[in-house]
Amino acid sequence: MRLIEALDYQDMSRKAARFILDQVKEKPDCVLGLATGSTPIGLYEQLIEWHKKGELDFSRVTSFNLDEYCGLAPEHEQSYHFFMNEKLFRHVNFESSHVPSGLAEDAELCADYDRQIADRGGIDLQLLGLGHTGHIAFNEPGDSFSTGTHKVALAEETIEANSRFFESRDEVPRFAVTMGIGTIMAARKILLVVNGTGKAEILKKALFGPVTPQVPASILQFHPDVVIVADTDALSAIRQEGLF
Ligand code: F6R
Repeated sequence: MRLIEALDYQDMSRKAARFILDQVKEKPDCVLGLATGSTPIGLYEQLIEWHKKGELDFSRVTSFNLDEYCGLAPEHEQSYHFFMNEKLFRHVNFESSHVPSGLAEDAELCADYDRQIADRGGIDLQLLGLGHTGHIAFNEPGDSFSTGTHKVALAEETIEANSRFFESRDEVPRFAVTMGIGTIMAARKILLVVNGTGKAEILKKALFGPVTPQVPASILQFHPDVVIVADTDALSAIRQEGLF
């Protein structure tokens, strides 16, 4: 586990984007796992800037996103399909990009997503954000770690946190389709990006607490190649305990 400190959001975005740049340069036909949410927006802006300057070519890269809300069509403005198109895909040149279908509730369609990842040789670098509940993708705290892509009920805290993107809390979907912990852990490298004091306690638990499905991100302690890029605010609780 490599923990890298960034001064602020912008610095975190640049430092984390560099890992993606390096991955694409090292293996131009790599498979990237991508995330939505507020955290990676600055990172995507940096990738777009490098692409526009001709420094980063995604023409042989395939991407697979972590998750999607159930019941939202790809053109719905709050869907993760729409988010990815707006924030990244329409500005760059991926060979192909995949977001799980929000209409793919049935197990067969979920299994098909994992099969597509496997057929493409697995994920080389998986980008992750960290939820306030300790979730990664939409794997919420529970009694066991999930394996493959599946449908989940979102935690109340996640619905609350994500209501900022919707007109009202009632509009936030209650279910999502998400890559499982097994899918994520199979990635060859993992890049976790975290910012803000609001994530400081959960980041400490995830990286230094017991590995437990009650804190799904804690499983990352068992991954052989994880880089965490976190800003000073997000690292504050870890620093306070003298762990960093
Ligand atoms: C998004 C995802 C989620 C977010 C997490 C943090 O695809 O899978 O796990 O990464 O909820 O969200 P933000 O970045 O909005 O704080």
